[in-house]
Amino acid sequence: MSLPSTKKTVLAFSRVSPEMIERLQQDFNVIAPNPKLGDINQQFNDALPHAHGLIGVGRKLGRQQLENAKQLEVVSSVSVGYDNYDVDYFNERGIMLTNTPDVLTESTADLAFALIMSSARRVAELDAWTKAGQWQASVPPALFGCDVHGKTLGIVGMGNIGAAVARRGHFGFNMPILYSGNSRKTALEQELAAQYRSLDQLLAEADFVCLVVPLSDKTKHLIGQRELALMKPSAILVNISRGPVVDEPALIQALQNATIRGAGLDVYEKEPLAQSPLFQLKNAVTLPHIGSATHETREAMANRALANLRSALLGERPQDLVNPQVWTA
Ligand code: DGY
Repeated sequence: MSLPSTKKTVLAFSRVSPEMIERLQQDFNVIAPNPKLGDINQQFNDALPHAHGLIGVGRKLGRQQLENAKQLEVVSSVSVGYDNYDVDYFNERGIMLTNTPDVLTESTADLAFALIMSSARRVAELDAWTKAGQWQASVPPALFGCDVHGKTLGIVGMGNIGAAVARRGHFGFNMPILYSGNSRKTALEQELAAQYRSLDQLLAEADFVCLVVPLSDKTKHLIGQRELALMKPSAILVNISRGPVVDEPALIQALQNATIRGAGLDVYEKEPLAQSPLFQLKNAVTLPHIGSATHETREAMANRALANLRSALLGERPQDLVNPQVWTA
């Protein structure tokens, strides 16, 4: 592969639209693997030695994958979560990592509420039921849902997105708010009358448990068989964070045995989820990881990721530098 040497090279690997590529081309040589041209992974690996910057999402990147990326200066992730990246390795190599916080907070919180509402009021299940022509008399109590307003909402991980979910619950649905996490949030306790609980206490008290923690070694399988057993039989678990935060087989068992009322899920241990016992469960709402998937938000994320990449490669400190220790002005 021969490339003009004056511009730096960007490898755009996914969630990068043609418009974004055009914009990137103003400042950089851009390589964008294309499925029409053969194996995407091969194209990605072939381009790595030339790349000064990577932009995209959904690839695990660490020592093994980046060994040949000798010129790499920055990885700009089009996501807020950065559990796919080996930050220690990036630090060792002096590679900058950037993400896209803030711009997806409200859309992701909206989706948490879509899952809360859908699970509680059986929206997806009853939509399928209606379309299957089952509505021939008044709906029997066996198909009734449960209220959302006034119920207790437990937020596990009161970061920006957790707070946005809590605001919807407090101001929109008159829900008492409980939260757990590493630190007390006194301002939010005042704003939302939120009360701090240990995780175990929160699980035992909340009617809706919403998981909003980032994935890390500490949060992997934070919710397993023991934790599910602490939840009320009438409670609903909502996961908008990362799949591995929940021990999925344990959740499936709890749903099959109805030891909890239901689950609203946007994320899974293995994605994409093509087959799962969850698909047989009426008390599970399953969405395909769409927390940030609105036109407006994805565009805002792309813009933010592009700005981060541009800054990093043009010698300015990027706005959303995950590992500031590698920044050398
Ligand atoms: C994120 O940005 O981390 C969301 O999960 C979308 O990928």
